Amino acid sequence: MQIFVDTAEIEEVKKAKLIGLADGVTTNPTLIQKSGRDFKKTILEISNLIEGPVFAETVSEDAEGIVKEGRDMSKWAANVVVKIPINRPGLEAVKILETEGIRTALTLVFSAGQALLAAKAGASYICPFVGRLDDVGLSGMELIREIMDVYNNYSYLETGVIVASLRTPNHIIESALIGADGVTVPYKLIEQLGQHPMTDMGIKKFLDDWKKVRS
Ligand code: E4P
Repeated sequence: MQIFVDTAEIEEVKKAKLIGLADGVTTNPTLIQKSGRDFKKTILEISNLIEGPVFAETVSEDAEGIVKEGRDMSKWAANVVVKIPINRPGLEAVKILETEGIRTALTLVFSAGQALLAAKAGASYICPFVGRLDDVGLSGMELIREIMDVYNNYSYLETGVIVASLRTPNHIIESALIGADGVTVPYKLIEQLGQHPMTDMGIKKFLDDWKKVRS
């Protein structure tokens, strides 16, 4: 399973990499804005840190503008993937960029229908948002089940499903159980995923007993 870090914070990428959890990095305009850093510099720095895909998102609203941004970003580093919001102009841009050998990811995917269109357009990845669906009382994980069923039915193996907008460690586990290609995880969830109160209690007991052996 691919585990990407959903961040524009360089230090978080470094920390995730130390435990082998930076198969890729996803950013979006909100994460870039929160980091307070320059977009291109941030993407370049992250691209140097990791070998896997680094998703950089376009902000143009027409296909021509998206293609222009995508072509430019693809020259920044070999591992940059152009992340594009899914709508009509986004799909058109994906078709053009992928034909030119530029990898793309369609983002803000909220339905299996959108996922189907993304695969047909030839996107290298899709990012379905589970947390934002849960936030409005719908089931994010049900969407992932539907998408994986559709993709498996038609062997759409060229489009990787990277589950996004994660809120809890359970979203990661459920994505793995369903068989999504990957997840993109806010750094704090990576920390939470590795924690268990019984592990902490077990470590404490071992250390307490060890102190008795040595005294
Ligand atoms: C990643 O590609 C997405 O942009 C991100 O996971 C969205 O997460 P949010 O719903 O927490 O903003």
